[in-house]
Amino acid sequence: MTTSKTPSNISIKPYRMDFEFSDAIPRYWAYNDPFMTHFVGALSTFFPDGERFFIDSVRHFRDTVKDDKVRQQEIAGFIGQEAHHSKEHESLNNFMEKRGLPALSGANAALTLLNWGRRKFPPRTRLAATVSLEHFTAILANRLLSHPDFMNHIDDSIKPLWMWHAIEETEHKAVAFDLYKDVKGNNHKELVFTMVMATALLAATTALYQVRFMAKDGQLFNLKSWAFGLNKLFGRQGLISGLIPDYLDFFKEDFHPWDHANSELVEYWRARLDVEMDKLKLLKAA
Ligand SMILES: [Fe+2]
Ligand SMILES: [Fe+2]
Repeated sequence: MTTSKTPSNISIKPYRMDFEFSDAIPRYWAYNDPFMTHFVGALSTFFPDGERFFIDSVRHFRDTVKDDKVRQQEIAGFIGQEAHHSKEHESLNNFMEKRGLPALSGANAALTLLNWGRRKFPPRTRLAATVSLEHFTAILANRLLSHPDFMNHIDDSIKPLWMWHAIEETEHKAVAFDLYKDVKGNNHKELVFTMVMATALLAATTALYQVRFMAKDGQLFNLKSWAFGLNKLFGRQGLISGLIPDYLDFFKEDFHPWDHANSELVEYWRARLDVEMDKLKLLKAA
């Protein structure tokens, strides 16, 4: 059985949050820009059901590590963290829906795809799909925490949600991966298959909902915003283009998520999150 490679300065503990998203939040809460706000918003719509899929996939095999107390605790932490993420993204999605954006439609599209995966593939392949999608959340989290441009351009009321989520995705990034290795040994081909599928489906649904959000907001032909957003995502040092080397590492046969050694980021951002939560309290009291 795999022994935990989680660094000693990391503990996978769920923190219950209760974010509120008020009418006072600016219309374009990311980069003060329609494209970027809707890109981040569209991503959020996939999270609630995505995280429930991850929980189910991991829970199915949790007895595999019943003799390893540390790994059991990590799995319990993973399940708790993902459950809280799911709930908080649901709040953000409801907030966007109230503003007239097709957030619940995005969530339904994700659920339809995930239910198709549930029907079509056995639990082991679903765990492999979870490992692949968790790689996405891990490298995106690493990007957000190591390049503060994003956090510096997001409204104070919404920033802590993404900070908290990125921190915890980093903390538990190897949990599904290690479990998969125990269940399936080294089935590299299956991981490659699920990663290619996950990439294609994620890219297609994100692009579709980006367009739908922009259209519903009357911004479909705002070329300035498209140019700005596409450059932010795919330009030099872009949010997505900057992920490519980390993304490709997944295809190496001996890759492990903690090869990207970034546990020190967690300590730094946990402290910053405390500051942001205090700011939120002040905002609420005002
Ligand atoms: Fe999550
Ligand atoms: Fe996760």
